Formats: sequence, structure tokens, C-alpha cells
Amino acid sequence: MCGIVGYIGKRDVAPLLLEGLQRLEYRGYDSAGIVITGKAAAGKPGTLKMVKAKGRVRELEAKVPKRFAGTTGIAHTRWATHGAPSDENAHPHLDAENKVAVVHNGIIDNASELRAKLTADGVVFLSETDTEVLTHLIARAQAETLEEKVREALRHVEGTYGIAVLHADFNDRIVVARNGSPVVLGIGEKEMFVASDVAALVAHTRQVVTLDDGEMATLKADDFRTYTTEGSTTTATPTTVEWEAESYDMGGHDTYMHKEISEQADAVDRVLRGRIDDRFSTVHLGGLNLDAREARGVRRIKILGCGTSYHAGQIGAQLIEELARIPADAEPASEFRYRNPVVDPDTLYVAVSQSGETYDVLAAVQELKRKGARVLGVVNVVGSAIAREADGGTYVHAGPEVCVVSTKCFTNTVVAFALLALHLGRIRDLSVADGKRIIDGLRRLPEQISEILGREDEIKRLAAEYADAKSMMFIGRVRGYPVAREASLKLKEVSYIHAEAYPASELKHGPLALIEPAMPTVAIVPDDDLLEKNRAAMEEIKARSGRILAVAHQVQEKADHTIVVPKNENELDPILMGIPLQLFAYHTALAMGRDIDKPRNLAKSVTVE
Ligand code: G6P
Repeated sequence: MCGIVGYIGKRDVAPLLLEGLQRLEYRGYDSAGIVITGKAAAGKPGTLKMVKAKGRVRELEAKVPKRFAGTTGIAHTRWATHGAPSDENAHPHLDAENKVAVVHNGIIDNASELRAKLTADGVVFLSETDTEVLTHLIARAQAETLEEKVREALRHVEGTYGIAVLHADFNDRIVVARNGSPVVLGIGEKEMFVASDVAALVAHTRQVVTLDDGEMATLKADDFRTYTTEGSTTTATPTTVEWEAESYDMGGHDTYMHKEISEQADAVDRVLRGRIDDRFSTVHLGGLNLDAREARGVRRIKILGCGTSYHAGQIGAQLIEELARIPADAEPASEFRYRNPVVDPDTLYVAVSQSGETYDVLAAVQELKRKGARVLGVVNVVGSAIAREADGGTYVHAGPEVCVVSTKCFTNTVVAFALLALHLGRIRDLSVADGKRIIDGLRRLPEQISEILGREDEIKRLAAEYADAKSMMFIGRVRGYPVAREASLKLKEVSYIHAEAYPASELKHGPLALIEPAMPTVAIVPDDDLLEKNRAAMEEIKARSGRILAVAHQVQEKADHTIVVPKNENELDPILMGIPLQLFAYHTALAMGRDIDKPRNLAKSVTVE
């Protein structure tokens, strides 16, 4: 959702910025724009040159004139919040004299109030955006320096922002600021980059500085400095990004979704690596910042996340209850933060997020911290906002996930929860033998994942078989239910086929009314103590002429088709049972000609409410 990229140095800036924007495309956007500082004649201020376009980055690229030379610039991909997608509403936004250009991620809450005041003062607005307000405020600021002008403007603004600002009269610098929307500086050799996401930087530098909320920075070609919005200097030590630029490439696959599904055996291997302690049949999670005594004092665990991460959290809660016998549940962070939750000192809160940026999750964490709660993060992106805000946690080490629809991150997050559950369990009452049993199960996962992925052709055929469905039901019980929910989400996100998930036990309380040949059911049927109950549910569906695709550990007679997955320990079965259904969703969407990596209306990182 919305992306920023900026550069100051010696190279021709337009191609660099366009390439950076392409690397941010995965986040979801509807228009794009670029502004550069043109060459200044001796002794004269520079001029700003801007191009904007509704649609994809390639449409912007096509509009960029041949003569568009410069060595400083900022660019943006926009996801519409204030005003429809259009050329006018795309960022950057300029003031009336074409001196100030701003790109902005986030939402300015008091934009309409500020717009009314500025309009009364004679300012003419060219767009419907909240961002344009900022441009005019900066242009009208009385302060001497660009830094002070930006600071003066920000004082009027309420809401969230990650901004980058160019000024024709100060063309040796880019000024950036952050409050609630990520801003990362990329430190190069006599050149500096800025972006809202390291994805746009790693091809050029892996030395980065992530700004904190309330921080600003000035970038010059050979220098940068950081300071607070109040003006006091801060110390910024660059860190090295682990992810290679190549991890963002498609690697021979036609889509990122396919690439990321295919990477899961390696990804799971990575999250396990270096963490298993065979001597005590447990795992080490170095970043939890929770000693054994504190861990024993935890009375409840509350997991918060959105979308796929929320589903991973549901499986996580079950794993914690099963292995550590601590009452645990998961809730959408977006709901939690608005219901004035009772924050209990003996509850451990866990925020789950692939990006570490999802606004509702971040806001829930901030609310919890404000109330004195202890919050752990289960996060993929190292150094992201949620990881920084949490008291401790664990990274899921899935590597970069580019497809909007999450696959390998889901799997790795669930495995990370299994590690957390095992760790907590072994501090409490889980026996050495059970600890060993779970560890052995975890070690089998990568091979079993490869085995499932090896059946892709079979799953592709099944996807073709069910692709005529207008609507699909997904059912499961207890361990199978969150798997059903995630599989149903995958299918609807990527294929746009309506899908809903129900506990199999709830069928007769309503959804059975929908069953008919045109409404197939996907049933999650693990070989555990609920096997017979699941069979009974399939029987009920068959009796109403419903078609059934089962995901099970053995062929199900009641089902029309079964995808057989390898059996692991009962507790770990949910990790494997969703994987064939990722491929099922993928092949269904592919056959329907969908935009697999960028489904309509969705964004990878939802950084606004
Ligand atoms: C968006 C994405 C989903 C993702 C959710 C949570 O809705 O489209 O794929 O599951 O955000 O994202 P997070 O980065 O917090 O895991």
C-alpha cells in the first residue's frame, strides 16, 4: 500500500526511481508519479519536473519524456484514500509555484480542516488528496531552512505520515519524516536512497537506517543526518539488510505466488535452524526477552493479527494450549483495539505480522504497551515497526514475500508458533518425551512439504475439476478449522470465487442449507480423534448431493476426491494440510486468468486503517 522511493547522488535519477517503484509494485497501488530536480543554471535555483499517471508504473514510464535528466528525485506509488485514482490525485504534489514537491504515505486526519483554512487564504487545490495540504503548508512556512519549513508544516498536521520532500530552492537535499508510516534510508557511496520498504533499496545498498516515529532526516549526496521533529539530533547507526536483491526476483517462476509456495521446504528449514536443543528436548528463542520464571507466570496468551497472520495466530493459539496448556486465543487486531479490551497483567500478548507494518496490529501493540502489557512480536520483516515496538519476539525467517497473497509466511509463522509453544511447554509441564516427539515432527516437515509440492500436477487437475464453482464451502474441526479458514481466504483472495469456512460441527446449524451440486465443499480431515466426526459431516453433505474434495491422511470414501498429505504429529498436522490448498487456489486463479500476484482491491501491507 503506497510506496516511496527517493535518490540523491550522481546517477541519472529517473531510471533508478522507476526501477525502485517497480520493486514496490507488490504492495498494491493504483497510480504513480515521479518528480526530479532539473539541472540548475549557475547561481539560479533548480526547477522541478514532474510526471504522474493513473495505473501501473509502466504507464508512468511511458509518459516520462526523453529529456528528463537530473540526479535528485522522489517517486511514489499511491493507493487511493482521499480521492479516486487519477493523474491529479497521484503523488507527488506541488505547490502553486512548483517549488515544493511532497510524496506521502499514511493519512492526515485533519486534512479537511486544514484544506478549508488554506482555501480561505486563497490557496487553490489541484487534487482531492490529504497530502496536497502538506505541500502548501511547507510552501507557505516562514522558516528559513527546508528542515524548519517541514517541521513547521508538520506541527499543524494530525495523523500518520512517511514523507519525502524536495524543494527547488534547496536542491542539494531531500528531507524526510516519519510518524506511523515506514521510512528507511539507504546509505550508498556518495549517494543516498530513501524508501518506504527495503525492497526498493536492496539492489543498490544493504546499509540501511530505519527512522523511528517522530524522526526526520536530511539526505545529501555524501551525507545524512537524523533528528527529531522537535529538532534535536538523534544517532542513527546503519544496519545491514540480510535479504539479497535476488530474493526479490521471480527465480524462473511465472508468478511470485508460485515461487513462494515452492520455497516452503527451505523456508521451514530456516525457521528451525539453530533453534532446536536436543539435550533438553526444547528450542531456543533468543529474542523473547522472557526468562523461565516470567514464562511460568503467564496465565493467558492473546494473539493479535490480521488476515492470514490472524489465521496463523489461531493455529498458534491451539498449539500453545495443546503443548503448554496455557489458555490462548487469537483475535483480529482490528477488532481488539476498538473494544476497549481488558488488559490483564498476567496475559502475554503476541502480535503477528508478516510485514511488521500492518497499521491495526501496530496500533493494538501501542495501545497494549501504553496500558503496561508485555507484547511479543512474531514477525517476518526484521527491524519493522511491530518488531521494534514489541518487548521481544521471534522472527519467522520466511525471506521476502512479494505476492500480496501470503503463503510461505503463513507456514513459517505457524512453525514459529510451534517453536514458541514447545518452548513454553517445556518450561511448564510438557514431558521430555513429548518435547522430543514434537522436535522429531518439526524436523520431518521440510521433507513432507516437498512431498506435497511434488503432487502439483494432481492438484492442478483437481483445481480444473472445481473451477466451475461459483461458491465453495471449507470445513474443518478444531485443528482443521483454522486450516479451512485460511484455505477459504486463499481461494477468494486470488480467484475471486466466493468461499466461506465453517467448523464442520456447525454445518447443521445453517450452512447445510446451501449444499447442492453447484456448491462444492473442501473438507479438512486429519487422522486424529475427530476422524469419525469429520466422516459424519461428509456423509451429511453427500446425502444432499454435495461434491467433496477432502484433504486427509488417507483416501476418504465419502469424498469425490482426496488429496492425501503425509501424517505428522497430530499437533503439527495443520502446518501441512493447508499447503495443497495454496496450490489449489493458485491453479484455480491461473485457469481463470487472474492477476495472481496483485489481486484486485488488495494490498500487501495495509499501513492505514
Ligand atoms: C493484507 C494482506 C494479507 C495479509 C494481511 C496482514 O491484508 O493482503 O495477505 O495477511 O494484510 O499482513 P501482515 O503483514 O500483518 O501479516
